[in-house]
Amino acid sequence: MSADPFMIMKNIEKSFNGVPVLKKVTLEIQRGEIHALLGENGAGKSTLMNVLGGVHQPDNGLINLNGEAVKMTTPRVSQAHGISFIHQELNVVPDLRVYENMFLGSELRNKIGFLKVEEMCRQTSSVLEQLGVSINPKEYVRNLDTSYKQLIEIAKALLHKSSLIIMDEPTSSLAEHEVNRLFKLMNNLKNSGVSIIYISHKLKEIKKVCDRYTVLRDGEVVGTGCIENESLDTITKLMVGKSISEDRFIHGHSFGPVLLEVNHLTSEGLFNNIDFTVRKGEILGFTGLAGDGRTELFESLFGYRKNYSGSIKINNQPVKIDHPSKAIKAGIGLVPKDRKENAIIKDLSVVHNMSLSAMRNFEKFGFIRDQLENQIFQSYKEKLNIKVHNAGITIDKLSGGNQQKVIIAKWLEVNTDIIIFDNPTQGIDVGAKQEIYHHIITLAEQGKAVIILSSEAPEVLKICHNIYVMYQGEITARFKGEEATEDEIMSYATGSKREAHQIG
Ligand SMILES: Nc1ncnc2c1ncn2[C@@H]1O[C@H](COP(=O)(O)OP(=O)(O)OP(=O)(O)O)[C@@H](O)[C@H]1O
Ligand SMILES: [Mg+2]
Repeated sequence: MSADPFMIMKNIEKSFNGVPVLKKVTLEIQRGEIHALLGENGAGKSTLMNVLGGVHQPDNGLINLNGEAVKMTTPRVSQAHGISFIHQELNVVPDLRVYENMFLGSELRNKIGFLKVEEMCRQTSSVLEQLGVSINPKEYVRNLDTSYKQLIEIAKALLHKSSLIIMDEPTSSLAEHEVNRLFKLMNNLKNSGVSIIYISHKLKEIKKVCDRYTVLRDGEVVGTGCIENESLDTITKLMVGKSISEDRFIHGHSFGPVLLEVNHLTSEGLFNNIDFTVRKGEILGFTGLAGDGRTELFESLFGYRKNYSGSIKINNQPVKIDHPSKAIKAGIGLVPKDRKENAIIKDLSVVHNMSLSAMRNFEKFGFIRDQLENQIFQSYKEKLNIKVHNAGITIDKLSGGNQQKVIIAKWLEVNTDIIIFDNPTQGIDVGAKQEIYHHIITLAEQGKAVIILSSEAPEVLKICHNIYVMYQGEITARFKGEEATEDEIMSYATGSKREAHQIG
C-alpha cells in the first residue's frame, strides 16, 4: 500500500433544500485498500458516494484523483475516471437481459455498428463465473432472484476493470456463501491494486474484510484509522455515541392462549410438514440459511402463494388464506423481506408509504384525513427515530435504513394481532436495531404474537422466546431462546445435525 492517497475528497459540502447533509467531509483512499465507510442511517454515506460517483454535485469541496483535481459532473464522467459504483438500491433493469444490463451504455459493437451479442455474453459469463454464479446471460433479469440481481450489479462493476469500486451495502441480499465468495474476490482485487470503498452495517464483515475506516456522524467525519487497531465496540461508539450490548433482550415470559396454529403445512419443493403454534405475547424466531424455505412458508401463510396444503387456525378457528387481504382480515401482518423490491413505492411520499395498508385507520367520513395521517407519522418518526425533514418528499429521498423504518411503521400501524417480520433489520444501523428490537418486545408485551424470520442467529438469540431452525424446507430443531447457542443453531441450519427438541 503506497502512503500517498490516490483519491482524496476534501471538504465536501452538500445540502438538500437548505438542510446540510455533508459538512466539510474529507476522505482519503489509498491504492489497494479496502476502506470501510461507516455511520448511522442518514449519516451521509450514500450521499458522499453519490458525489464521488457523479450522481450529485457538491456545493463545495474538491476531488483529487491521482494527483489531479477532477470534477465528477455525471456518472459517466466518474466511470471514465475508473470509478465503479454498486448502488445501495438495485439499479438493474428488469426488462433487459443479463448481458444487456451488464453492458448498458457501453455496448460492444463491430466496425459497422452491429452489436457483438455473443462476445458480450461470453464476457458476462466469465465475470459471473468469478463470482461463482452460473446464469444464462440471455435470461431476463426480471426472472431472477434478488440475490442474483445484486450479484449482477457487482459483476457490472468488475467488468469495467475500475481502479476504485464503491460498494454500498453489497451484501444485504446475499447468502453467506455468496458473501464469502465476494470477500475472496475483493481481496484478489485489492492485491491487484484496486481500491474499494465498502459500506455495510454488518460490523463483523467490516472487521473481516476492511483495512481502514472512516466514520460519519450527522454529515461530519468523527474518526478514521486502521481497523486492526480498533475494537468493534470503539467503532460502534464512534457511530452511535454509545456501546451496544450483545446480551439477550428478554428475560422470562408470560404467554396467553395460542393465537396461531399451523399443522402439516406443505408446499412441494419449498417446505414440508410444518407444525408450530404461537401464543399471545410470544416472540417466535425462525432461522436457517438462505433457501431454507422459511420465507416461502410465511409468504404462503400470508396468502402470497396459494399452492400449499395443511391447516391454519387462528384463535382455534380454521381459516383459509389465499390472498394477502384475507390474511390481514384474519389478523396476520407481514413485513416483507426485500425493501428494494417488495415494500416501497418509490414515487409515493414517505407519509403515504406508511399509511398505504392502513388506509382504513385514516378514513373518516369517506376521505383520508391528512392531518391525522401526519400526526401518526410524527409519532412513529419519534419512536423509531426516522430521519426525515419533510414527510411529504418521495420515499426514495430517504436513506436506505430510514426507508426500512417507514416500512416497519406501516405494519405497526396496520396493527394486526399476529405480525411476521422477515429480515426486519436489513440495512438498519447497530443503534437503530436496538430501537426496533425494543419495539418488537413491546408488541409482544401488548399481547401480540410475533414471528421473526432472520438468517442472523444472533438476532433471534437476542429477542426470541423460542427459536426454530429450518433446513431444506423442514424444521430441524426447536429451542428455548435462552438455551440455544449460535453454534448449535448453525449445526442444525447446515444439516449436520437433525433432531427435534421439545420446547415449553
Ligand atoms: N435527493 C435527496 N433529497 C433530499 N434529501 C436527501 C436526498 N438524498 C439524501 N437525502 C438526505 O440526506 C441524508 C443522508 O442520507 P444518506 O442516504 O447519505 O444516508 P446513509 O448514511 O447512506 O444512510 P443509510 O445507512 O440508511 O443508507 C438523509 O437525511 C436523507 O434523507
Ligand atoms: Mg445509504
